[in-house]
Amino acid sequence: MHVTLRQLRVFETVARRGGFTRAAEELHLAQPTVSVQVKQLVDAVGLPLFEQVGKKIFLTEAGRQLYATCRQVFEVWSQFEMTLADLKGMKQGRLRLAVVTTAKYFVPRLLGPFLKRFPGIEVALEVANRDRVIERLVANEDDLYIMGVAPQSLDVEAHPFLDNPLVVLAPADHPLAREEHIALSRLVHEPLVLRERGSGTRTVVERYFAERGYALRARMELGSNEAIKQAVAGGLGITIMSLHALTLEPMQGQLVVLDVEGFPIERSWFVVYPRGKQLSVVAQTFFEFLKTEGSQLAASALAAGTRAQTATRQSELRRKRAARVASRPRH
Ligand code: PGA
Repeated sequence: MHVTLRQLRVFETVARRGGFTRAAEELHLAQPTVSVQVKQLVDAVGLPLFEQVGKKIFLTEAGRQLYATCRQVFEVWSQFEMTLADLKGMKQGRLRLAVVTTAKYFVPRLLGPFLKRFPGIEVALEVANRDRVIERLVANEDDLYIMGVAPQSLDVEAHPFLDNPLVVLAPADHPLAREEHIALSRLVHEPLVLRERGSGTRTVVERYFAERGYALRARMELGSNEAIKQAVAGGLGITIMSLHALTLEPMQGQLVVLDVEGFPIERSWFVVYPRGKQLSVVAQTFFEFLKTEGSQLAASALAAGTRAQTATRQSELRRKRAARVASRPRH
């Protein structure tokens, strides 16, 4: 069978992007060129690879098999390219990372020093919620995944590399901001703003309360930590979120971390990949960086964020105490 690597690349892009036009855009080719490449591949294979229903195209059984094969071929090929670069003494190639929404608060910051150290490496970073990141993991679309907890149902390698404390966040003028050792049961009566279903944070929070006999009801669900912080500052309720989402907080003074019993919920960030996956040189390099320098950088950013939050809370408590003293009747 006479098939070229170029035809496979074009076919893989059409299959992945679900259309000839989109594939042509991605590959910077004219659409007829894409069609010709696919046609030649169909002739070589001897079976149709796509079928058209209305305006959409779908893979046939032969197309699906070829698509899976292409993914393997390209994976092995990029391993080879990277090994070659490594043999030449250069760390070069593409690092494909998929991280959960909340990890966007520290992963991009780590990439700066990493890429400075290894200028030959390019990074493609995908940010999505936990469910979507797990789908990508199952489809083996990336080199490494960063998430709160490794999925129990999948056969993966998971290495914790950083703390991920979840805290209770309220608007600074919330009555509970004045209190210490707040009982968990009191949170249940507060209006809650929670992340969407499928988010790792949401899953952990629901489980945490369920294990203690409380069912949670969200007053509002939002798909972004930033939107939740705005909603909380605007008085729509309280929330539970990773402290990492507060480390670069431009809303200092508007939000406060409550002192609730059992909090912070202590979690970790994990770097995850399918067990048995042969990591590329670039992926191994990033993995090593994460476990050493990367985790130290992120941990010190987190510690600075915690200090800032504690200071905000203490000044809030001081302000409230002063107000109480000032309002006491004088004799
Ligand atoms: P999330 O995931 O951003 O989807 O909530 C965070 C986590 O898994 O800890």
